[in-house]
Amino acid sequence: MGPLLHYYMLKCLFFLVLPHLLIQCCSSMQPLCRNSERSALLQLKENFILNQSASKVGSWKLEGDCSLWDGVECDDNTGHVIGLDLSSSFLYGSIDSNSSLFCLSHLRRLNLSDNDFNYSKIPSALGSLSRLSRLELSSSAFSGQIPAEVFELSKLVTLDLSDNYLELQNPSLKSLAEKLVYLRHLNLDKVNVSSAIPQSLANLSSLTYLSLGNCELHGEFPIKVFHLPNLQILNVDGNPFLTGHFPEFNRSSSIEILELGFTGFLGELPKSIGNLESLSYSGISKCHFTGRIPTSLANLTHLTYLSLPDNKFYGPIPQSIFTNLVNLEHLYLYQNHLIGTIKLESFLNLKKLKSLYLSSNDFSLISTATPNLTVPKFYMLGLSSCNLSKFPDFLADQDELEFLDLSGNKIDGHIPYWLWGLSAKTLEFLYLDVNFLTGFDQPPIVLLWTNLRILDLRYNNLQGSLPIPSASMYQYFVSNNLLTGEISPVVCNLSSIIVLDMSSNNFSGKLPPCLVNLSRSLSILNLQNNSFRGRIPQTCKNGSKLRMIDFSQNQLYGPIPRSMVYCSMLESLNLGNNQMNGTFPSQLGTLPELKVLILQHNGFHGAIGKPETNDFPKLRILDLSFNQFEGSLPSQYFPRWKAMKFADSHELRYLQANTSFQVPGYDWSSYVSYSRTMTNKGVETTYEKIQEFLVTIDLSSNRFEGCIPEDIQILEALQFLNLSNNFLSGPIPSSLATLMDLQSLDLSQNKLSGEIPQELPKLTFLEFFNVSNNQLIGPMPQGKQFGTFENNSFEGNPGLCGNPLSKKCYSSSPPPPLL
Ligand SMILES: *[C@@H]1O[C@H](CO)[C@@H](O)[C@H](O)[C@H]1NC(C)=O
Ligand SMILES: *[C@@H]1O[C@H](CO)[C@@H](O)[C@H](O)[C@H]1NC(C)=O
Ligand SMILES: *[C@@H]1O[C@H](CO)[C@@H](O)[C@H](O)[C@H]1NC(C)=O
Ligand SMILES: *[C@@H]1O[C@H](CO)[C@@H](O)[C@H](O)[C@H]1NC(C)=O
Ligand SMILES: *[C@@H]1O[C@H](CO)[C@@H](O)[C@H](O)[C@H]1NC(C)=O
Ligand SMILES: *[C@@H]1O[C@H](CO)[C@@H](O)[C@H](O)[C@H]1NC(C)=O
Ligand SMILES: *[C@@H]1O[C@H](CO)[C@@H](O)[C@H](O)[C@H]1NC(C)=O
Ligand SMILES: *[C@@H]1O[C@H](CO)[C@@H](O)[C@H](O)[C@H]1NC(C)=O
Ligand SMILES: *[C@@H]1O[C@H](CO)[C@@H](O)[C@H](O)[C@H]1NC(C)=O
Ligand SMILES: *[C@@H]1O[C@H](CO)[C@@H](O)[C@H](O)[C@H]1NC(C)=O
Ligand SMILES: *[C@@H]1O[C@H](CO)[C@@H](O)[C@H](O)[C@H]1NC(C)=O
Ligand SMILES: *[C@@H]1O[C@H](CO)[C@@H](O)[C@H](O)[C@H]1NC(C)=O
Repeated sequence: MGPLLHYYMLKCLFFLVLPHLLIQCCSSMQPLCRNSERSALLQLKENFILNQSASKVGSWKLEGDCSLWDGVECDDNTGHVIGLDLSSSFLYGSIDSNSSLFCLSHLRRLNLSDNDFNYSKIPSALGSLSRLSRLELSSSAFSGQIPAEVFELSKLVTLDLSDNYLELQNPSLKSLAEKLVYLRHLNLDKVNVSSAIPQSLANLSSLTYLSLGNCELHGEFPIKVFHLPNLQILNVDGNPFLTGHFPEFNRSSSIEILELGFTGFLGELPKSIGNLESLSYSGISKCHFTGRIPTSLANLTHLTYLSLPDNKFYGPIPQSIFTNLVNLEHLYLYQNHLIGTIKLESFLNLKKLKSLYLSSNDFSLISTATPNLTVPKFYMLGLSSCNLSKFPDFLADQDELEFLDLSGNKIDGHIPYWLWGLSAKTLEFLYLDVNFLTGFDQPPIVLLWTNLRILDLRYNNLQGSLPIPSASMYQYFVSNNLLTGEISPVVCNLSSIIVLDMSSNNFSGKLPPCLVNLSRSLSILNLQNNSFRGRIPQTCKNGSKLRMIDFSQNQLYGPIPRSMVYCSMLESLNLGNNQMNGTFPSQLGTLPELKVLILQHNGFHGAIGKPETNDFPKLRILDLSFNQFEGSLPSQYFPRWKAMKFADSHELRYLQANTSFQVPGYDWSSYVSYSRTMTNKGVETTYEKIQEFLVTIDLSSNRFEGCIPEDIQILEALQFLNLSNNFLSGPIPSSLATLMDLQSLDLSQNKLSGEIPQELPKLTFLEFFNVSNNQLIGPMPQGKQFGTFENNSFEGNPGLCGNPLSKKCYSSSPPPPLL
């Protein structure tokens, strides 16, 4: 007996006590891994750029038994590499059929998930690994068509190709289903399949896991798939063009997870859904289901997750749900047509409930006194538009809430003091907007939440001063209340803030100079419609992120500060309806993104003068109306206003800032639209959104003089032009007739002379036209929409004649051309 063998025998005596040593002992007795396979592995490692410290392959060395390497599994008897698990190994680089990976011809299990293969195609050489039973390539940046060779791997039991950039069209899902007949686990999430689901999929009788989320599937879902005898998990989420119905389910079904959200499934939920005894997770949000929620749902006592929102369910929620579904943790019923009066407290019987979302139904939630029992701890409560008339009492004990939405209810009176500290350490999102709240029980100075990200108090009747939340805040909305007082400098401590909307209150005092501190995080600053006074302080410094500034409808005075040029990302600036003065802010022409500039109703004055270089390249909306600008129209700017030259892309988009953010657990996607008040066709209108391709120039009610330049035709995308109420003279340029997108042209109240160009009826989109109170003469243009303009669009020009005016054109002048 050699000393080595003796040693092993000794060790084996210990096995009885230390079973884990057994494994070591026996593996040491195995044949070493093959040299050829070891070098194939090492070569594979060489092919990628990797993060040595974190990667499994980091430990692979030139020497040693590769069966001991991280991620490598060798056969006990033959020593061949039979398993390779390089998931999450930080591999980066391309891979093709020449890869040494394909020398490992004994592989049975291959997992390369969660790496970055740099948009490589799946190598067709995979087909040579004919022993493979598990193949996992998810989230690894593979792209292109899945090669037919993969379907030659007829022993495959597990196939996961999800979350890449792959297509499965030729060959198709049909050929997969016909060839890989032993599959138990199939995940093709995000593979572009772009076909109907083949009937043959229902032949894969071993399937337990079928996931086809976001596959661009269409057609009718084969109902037999629901009857696959072993199916436990079915996901076809995110295929909006996939239609289908639920079958009659029977008790033999082993379905545990049904995820059909955002598909075209329709019809009613069958009563037999109550037979899915194993069902624990059911998500069918955003489908077209209708009918009542069947009471048999209450039989599904294993349910932990039930999500039925955004369908067309109607009727009262079955009461039995509240008593039976004791395991329910997540219940989402929002955006349906559920009716009746429901006691909010009945949900509190579901002791494991953590998130409850009932918003936007047709029912009324009533909240009674807190029942004298333990109440579930929620992290998410969505009770918006539920006709609640008071803050539910049970909220006071909730100390783990992250998300609370009580907007759009009928809650009136003061916000109780306890609410201001509710779930102080956890609350991140609080919506109390659109209620009838009037104030605060005790005026809060600084709010207690340490993690709050969004606070929305818009559209209430709140009085008092601005509640100041903690520095964690990203979006703060208090608009449309009756808040008063000055902006406290504490606001300048909101160092992460992205949106600050205090518009339509009665805040007063000066804008604090420290506001500039917010410009590196703030994207939207809306102080419109308050009583702020004084000069505008420096608002931006280098690196400013501000995209929208609205200081309109206040009592601000003085000039626009030069420091505004530091607002280098600014897209929309509205200073309208103040008492500002100074000359045209040509310095703002250097702002590369500025699309909207509104200075209406102020005391700006002087000639506009000459542009510097590259002025206002993206400007589309310019409103200088009701000021004291003088001199000629700013025609030298016209060639610079490049964005006014390109017509609508016909895509309906709005000017808005992306205000999204990420915090652990929430990937918050949001946009804030720019609003503006403008006179459109004579009516002052507030637009909550501005179309991205709207092009308007309003220079009305100033002291401009001289001609309307022919050059105006450069601004080809112009839709609204208002030059009314100036001292413009000379003829109406016939070049206006080339502005084919023009919808509104107001030249009234000037000193324009000559005839109205007979070409104007070519402007087929023109809906509003006003040349009243000028010195125009001659015949009215005829035809097209010129017949639809009212008489007062032309009045005050004694020299005009012809339809619709009562004054006839005498035969001495030629008859007007008919178009
Ligand atoms: C390597 O991975 C570790 C752990 O994930 C990470 O902390 C480190 O930044 C990475 N290094 C590089 C260069 O990517
Ligand atoms: C990634 O792919 C690009 C384009 O094919 C190629 O230029 C680049 O070299 C590849 N990078 C690696 C690490 O393979
Ligand atoms: C494999 O390598 C050979 C020779 O180096 C080359 O001709 C061939 O194009 C390569 N194949 C692939 C798929 O990259
Ligand atoms: C999916 O494939 C179809 C057909 O090739 C194609 O029309 C569609 O654009 C693709 N979808 C995506 C998101 O690439
Ligand atoms: C399902 O399998 C059966 C028996 O193998 C076969 O006859 C039938 O054609 C298959 N159905 C489909 C739709 O492929
Ligand atoms: C239940 O479903 C299975 C699988 O589809 C089927 O074989 C069985 O006949 C059904 N039983 C009843 C009673 O419908
Ligand atoms: C629901 O459970 C009750 C009581 O166990 C039973 O009588 C009823 O048939 C079940 N309904 C369905 C649809 O499973
Ligand atoms: C603002 O924050 C600074 C630094 O955290 C702090 O010293 C200061 O007291 C805060 N100001 C107010 C008014 O809360
Ligand atoms: C707004 O506040 C000012 C005082 O700051 C006051 O004079 C004015 O009446 C208030 N306006 C409204 C509408 O309450
Ligand atoms: C501009 O407004 C300020 C403050 O109202 C005033 O003092 C100044 O005289 C005005 N300047 C001009 C040129 O009107
Ligand atoms: C043009 O501006 C004047 C005020 O300057 C306004 O009264 C008129 O309604 C505006 N025209 C249009 C078409 O909006
Ligand atoms: C045209 O402008 C005049 C003011 O010059 C106004 O009185 C009249 O109502 C306007 N016409 C229309 C149709 O708005």
